[in-house]
Amino acid sequence: MRVALLGCGVVGSQVARLLVEQSSDLASRVGTPLELVGIAVRDAAAPRPELPASVDRALLTQDAPGLVQRADIVIEVMGGIEPARSLLLAAISAGAAVVTANKALLAEDGPTLYKAADAAGVDIYFEAAVAGAIPIVRPVRESLAGDHVRRVLGIVNGTTNYVLDQMATTGAGLEEAVAQAQELGYAEADPTADVEGYDAAAKAAILASLAFHTRVTLEDVAREGITSVTSEDVAWATQTGHVIKLLAIAEQTIDGVSARVHPALVPATHPLAGVRGSFNAVFVEADAAGELMFYGRGAGGAPTASAVLGDVVSAARHRVLGGKGPEESTYAALPVLPPSAAITRYQVRLAVDDRPGVLAQVAQVLAAQGVSIEAVRQPSVTDAEHEAEPGGLAHLVITTHTAPESALAATVTAIRALEPVREITSVLRVEGA
Ligand code: NDP
Ligand code: HSE
Repeated sequence: MRVALLGCGVVGSQVARLLVEQSSDLASRVGTPLELVGIAVRDAAAPRPELPASVDRALLTQDAPGLVQRADIVIEVMGGIEPARSLLLAAISAGAAVVTANKALLAEDGPTLYKAADAAGVDIYFEAAVAGAIPIVRPVRESLAGDHVRRVLGIVNGTTNYVLDQMATTGAGLEEAVAQAQELGYAEADPTADVEGYDAAAKAAILASLAFHTRVTLEDVAREGITSVTSEDVAWATQTGHVIKLLAIAEQTIDGVSARVHPALVPATHPLAGVRGSFNAVFVEADAAGELMFYGRGAGGAPTASAVLGDVVSAARHRVLGGKGPEESTYAALPVLPPSAAITRYQVRLAVDDRPGVLAQVAQVLAAQGVSIEAVRQPSVTDAEHEAEPGGLAHLVITTHTAPESALAATVTAIRALEPVREITSVLRVEGA
């Protein structure tokens, strides 16, 4: 079985290593040897200290289009939209099965690849595209195919989870924590895709498409990164029994499906709250299975290569034994809802004048918008402090019951206009309660 590898960077070098170093076990598991026939890179002459000595340098080539024509299975770990898409399409039309870790490409134009693979009758696998080593694509696409998934909540970006965890545990500010993530190699030199939530949004689109049998693309995902999360937000979260996490959320409501990425308060008792450092986890709620959580390393060369190799073995077994992996499933074709339709709980923090009647005014605004209050917390000020500064500053933390995002937005605007309200310090969604 001829295997071509496109890319030899963080992930590709580890895929090559596993293919070579585990060749005997892989041959036994597949039923025939897997032969690595070439590794396409931009610069075949570049020094590659990350590539183990066990991998023959003569396999490196700059002729990716030629390489995909002489393989039974093509693994794409180059990243980016082009030439990755054209190379995968060329591989598919040449009859090869394809395995990719490219979430950006799948979220932007996955259906083009899925359709081409279906038409050619070849496998397309992409376990590594969502949450690295964690098996989540296969469980949602296959293991839960007999169930009805209601909601998927994922911590699917290790960099932002590390940053938020550092802020919570060390009191570091956002910039400091991002710098630490860069030093440890979690964050790229340009951390935009992570901190602004683009990476998580691509994964949310893929998960939503699989879970709800509906095409959801990157454009359908409402996205908000972690750049607005302050040390104060993190400290208040702790005080109110929560942890702030960047969540990728895909859910089905009676009106359709929604996919969104944003920072959220997660109750400290929820399993996702215990996902520390750069780890990832995906929490799935299904009608019959109940609650499931998948946890592990969401990035890194070897963990991601593990998921890639699992897909390679599946595709190779089909070539040896017959059969085919699942095709794209879009039969439900549910409406994809706009962000304003999302229904969730909120925690609104505001600074107000500490005078009689202020809380009542705020509560009235919420009532007028039909937003029900679940809890109000006002950190105490002593009588002596109150008398020393009558009408001084008070902080209110209001947690609501579920409300549509549109109603919450109108509520926030109306509260901001109240005379005793000095500032709305933050509005955070509460998920997983
Ligand atoms: P790297 O940037 O480390 O490696 C990319 C590789 O692709 C390099 O070897 C590069 O060649 C080669 N390449 C890039 N463009 C071309 C081109 N036009 N022609 C030929 N070769 C090319 O990326 P990663 O290994 O980090 O990521 C690869 C993919 O895996 C991406 O889609 C990413 O999203 C995904 N992924 C990555 C994870 C991670 O932890 N890194 C986790 C999960 C998924 P050269 O070496 O000569 O520059
Ligand atoms: N003490 C205020 C009130 C609460 O009674 O409304 C917020 O300042």
